[in-house]
Amino acid sequence: MRSPSLALLLLLLTPPWPAWTRALPAASRSGPPGAPDCPEACACVPGGQANCSGRALPAVPGGLRKSVRILLLDHNRVSALPPGAFVGAGALLRLDLRENGLRWVHAWAFWGLGALQQLDLSANQLEVLAPGTFVPLRALRDLSLAGNRLARLEPAALGALPLLRALNLRDNELPALAQDLLAGLPALDTLRLRGNPWACGCALRPLCAWLRRHPGTAPEAETLLCVSPGRLTLSPLAALPDAAFSHCAQPLALRDLAVVYALGPASFLASLAACLGLGSVLTACRARRRRRCRAAARHPPKRLQDPGSGTAPPAAPESPAAAPAQA
Ligand SMILES: *[C@@H]1O[C@H](CO)[C@@H](O)[C@H](O)[C@H]1NC(C)=O
Repeated sequence: MRSPSLALLLLLLTPPWPAWTRALPAASRSGPPGAPDCPEACACVPGGQANCSGRALPAVPGGLRKSVRILLLDHNRVSALPPGAFVGAGALLRLDLRENGLRWVHAWAFWGLGALQQLDLSANQLEVLAPGTFVPLRALRDLSLAGNRLARLEPAALGALPLLRALNLRDNELPALAQDLLAGLPALDTLRLRGNPWACGCALRPLCAWLRRHPGTAPEAETLLCVSPGRLTLSPLAALPDAAFSHCAQPLALRDLAVVYALGPASFLASLAACLGLGSVLTACRARRRRRCRAAARHPPKRLQDPGSGTAPPAAPESPAAAPAQA
C-alpha cells in the first residue's frame, strides 16, 4: 500500500510536463500498433474506425483526433452529451450512439462535426431536443432518432439540413409534426414514422399534406393510423383528404402575409390621398361659390329688372335690387 502512494507523491512533486509526457503514452496506447490516435478504452483499425462499443463507458472518451472517421459508441452508458463533446474529431463521418440511456444533449454537443454524414441516436431516452442541436451538421445525410421519448420535435432543433436524405422518427411519442419541420429538409427521400401516437387533428394537417405531395417518401405511410380523435381513430393517415381538415383555420401563407403587409400601407396612403383630394375639391367649390355670390351681388341678375316678368320669384322682395323694380 505504501509504495504506490509514495510513487504518486513523487509524480505530483516532480515538474509536471516531463513526468506527464513520459507517463501518458504508456497509459493511453491501448489501441493496436499503428493507431497512435486511438482513444483509450477503444479499439481502432487503420480505416479510421474507433470501436468503443459495449464498454460501459459513462462519457464520450477523450483524445478524439482528426484521424477518427467512424466512432462506434453504441451500447454504453453515455447519458449526457456536454457542449463540444466531440471537439477534435472534426473529420468524423459516422457516429453511433445507440442504446446509451442518453437523456440530455446540449445544444452545442455536436459542434465541429461539419463532415458528419450519419448519426444514430436511436434507442435512447431523449424527450426533447434543444433548438439548434443539429444545426452544425451541414453534411448530415442520415439521422435516426428512433426509439426515444420525443413528444415533440421543434423545427429549430433540426434546423435546415440541406443534404438529409433519411430521417427515422419511429417509436417515439409524436402526435404531429410541426409545419416547418419538413420544409427545411429539401433532400429528404426516406421518412420513417411508424410507432407514434398520431393525433389526426388540425396539427397533423401539414404532415398529411406533405405525405400527399411526396408519395413514396414515407414507405410506411399506408400503415400509419390515427389514435385520436374519436371519429378518426384507426383512419390511415395517408388516406385523409384535405377535406378532413376543412374545419381547421388555414394558417396564412407567406404570400397572403405579403399581401396584407403591402395592402396596409397602400390603403393608408390611398385613403390619405382621397381625403386630401376631397378636401381640396370642397375648398375649391366653396371658394368658387363665394366668388359667384360676390359677383352676383355686384351685378344683379338681369331678369329681375325685366318689367315683363311681373311674377317675381319669392326671393325678389328680399333682394335690394327687386324693391325699386316693383315700385
Ligand atoms: C467492436 O468491438 C466489439 C467488442 O469489442 C465487437 O463485438 C464488435 O464486433 C466490434 N464492431 C465492429 C464493427 O468491428
